[in-house]
Amino acid sequence: MVKLIEEKNIKGKNLLCFELKNKNGFSAQIINYGGRIHKLIVPDINGVLRDVVIGFNEIETYVGSASYFNAIIGRTANRIGGAAFSLNGKKYQLYANDNGNSLHGGKIGFDSVFWDAEIDQDALVLRYVSADGEEGYPGKLTTEVRYRVSEENELAISYRAVSDADTLCSLTNHAYFNLSGDFGNTILNECMRIRSDYITAVDDKLIPTGALYAVKDTPLDFNSMKTIGEEIADDNEFLRIAGGYDFNYVLKNGEGAYAAKAFDPKTCIEMTVYTDMPCLQFYSGNFLNGTKGKAVFNKNCAFCLETQLYPNACNIPSFPTSVLKKGDVFTSETRYKFSLFRSEFL
Ligand code: BGC
Repeated sequence: MVKLIEEKNIKGKNLLCFELKNKNGFSAQIINYGGRIHKLIVPDINGVLRDVVIGFNEIETYVGSASYFNAIIGRTANRIGGAAFSLNGKKYQLYANDNGNSLHGGKIGFDSVFWDAEIDQDALVLRYVSADGEEGYPGKLTTEVRYRVSEENELAISYRAVSDADTLCSLTNHAYFNLSGDFGNTILNECMRIRSDYITAVDDKLIPTGALYAVKDTPLDFNSMKTIGEEIADDNEFLRIAGGYDFNYVLKNGEGAYAAKAFDPKTCIEMTVYTDMPCLQFYSGNFLNGTKGKAVFNKNCAFCLETQLYPNACNIPSFPTSVLKKGDVFTSETRYKFSLFRSEFL
């Protein structure tokens, strides 16, 4: 069931908040600014409903905030080295918002625009048309993001985009999870499992170099479940550069297989992520430093699992392309399924 639950006029724009809710009380609140997940309410082991995403108390605080909290990221998730790329023999310059590089779509990415919203039966549909040349990208990109909540306590987000000229497109959601629902806790005691043998290696500015780094026998290996904190402080060149986990994992694909699984030992809330994307950025909230919202958000108070195409693929010929050809359709779906932890997953 989807309904509009809040409406405010902000700077002449209609800021809307929708609630998608199932019969178990599991619900997602989504706003039309950046398609952000304002709240994600999940029952814990005692039946207590807990909000498992960080964010602000009031929906208007997201507008113009410097955060990517729980937002749609586009046109391209992650970093583009040198904030530039060449396509069909032409060089495109993007806004350098991250150490000379482009991060998460540029100065005003899809996280910071108002989307048109429509309720379509059991789904909330957000639409945004990114003009030709917006943020330096070629082509008019028509984008649709669809949110659904199932009776199985699952939030599904599906993306669709079409361009009238060749462009880049890799859309994701930047939800920051803390499965304890208590944002004063760090996520270092939460358990994580990621089905991946390689990350895309990065330089000291976190730009993928094109090399793949095998995680076996390193603290970056999450094939067996371990707490996020267990090896985060180990001496590893990549952990040192990123100040924790901030890596793009190349997923082991397989029909129906999950990409990642996390759970909190106190609430027993478990989240399983399914996706058709080849990669997932696992970020342990290393750069959070005191933003005030539902709580004061400090380092490691939340983690992100951002499903996406290979980052910086536009500058790395050996990576599968992130070019969306004129008239082709970009589609992807990521599902976040919530359950209570059962030991057989260990
Ligand atoms: C990146 C981090 C970045 C964060 C910003 C993540 O996707 O991997 O490096 O600081 O987004 O919110």
